[in-house]
Amino acid sequence: MTSLAEKTALITGSGDGMGRAHALLMAERGANIVVADINADNAQRTAEMVRKLGRRAHVEQVDMADTAGVKAMVERSSAALGPIHILVNNAGFGQRALLHEVTEEDFDRMFAVHVRGSFFATQAVLPAMKAARQGKIINIASIWGMTGAPVASHYCGAKAALLGLTKAWAKEFAPWNIHVNAVSPGGVRSGGPKKLDNAEQLRLKEEKVPLKRYCEPIEMSYAVAFLASSEADFITGQNLSPNGGEVIVGI
Ligand SMILES: NC(=O)c1ccc[n+]([C@@H]2O[C@H](COP(=O)([O-])OP(=O)(O)OC[C@H]3O[C@@H](n4cnc5c(N)ncnc54)[C@H](O)[C@@H]3O)[C@@H](O)[C@H]2O)c1
Repeated sequence: MTSLAEKTALITGSGDGMGRAHALLMAERGANIVVADINADNAQRTAEMVRKLGRRAHVEQVDMADTAGVKAMVERSSAALGPIHILVNNAGFGQRALLHEVTEEDFDRMFAVHVRGSFFATQAVLPAMKAARQGKIINIASIWGMTGAPVASHYCGAKAALLGLTKAWAKEFAPWNIHVNAVSPGGVRSGGPKKLDNAEQLRLKEEKVPLKRYCEPIEMSYAVAFLASSEADFITGQNLSPNGGEVIVGI
């Protein structure tokens, strides 16, 4: 386990779920944290937890679909905690809908939060990373961005777009020693799966996973924190997918 001491990590959507788990693990490993979330109360709660771990935290309420707001959020965060070394583009949401049910507003919101939000957050942190000739950008995609799914094509498309951005940015930013990778979670007991009110529904989903379970958010954080660390300095443009064996390419 390598230290993230002296690093500042901006984690979007870190008011809850996996984003909060990433924030706490990185704080344990020494990083100061920008907690950016649309939900201000939850963001404050995460920040208090970070401070209890002895690290500095800065809270930003932001809607990732608001491009000007994202830019201003990065400026204020850098003024508060110093230049951003690690950006985790995690904020997101699922929506189950068949193609004919998806409205133009649904489609635009899905791409605005996941794709446009990640794109312009990255654009905003980039000058400082280039100046420092170091940086770690981690895009949170999904196994559904790789495999597709029959119930959420706009979500699958947005997550696949993040995988494309990951590869392009890895090549574009490599001359500045900025590493860009994706993490594509399988089933995690947070967000959508946590809200399944029917325990039997969740059990049936877990039954289809070779390891027979969904994971806890912290298990995804280990992958994210690894990619954020110097142990991953030769890794860029890759997609790390902790998924219990739900997606295995090959025979
Ligand atoms: N839970 C899973 O099984 C799973 C699987 C694959 C991928 N993912 C992805 O992982 C990421 C985190 O998911 P989670 O399960 O922790 O969800 P979650 O709902 O627990 O947390 C998501 C956080 O993002 C915030 N957020 C949502 N929209 C936002 C916006 N417009 N601007 C700023 N913040 C916003 C929410 O307020 C929340 O705090 C998402 O991108 C999700 O698509 C989740």
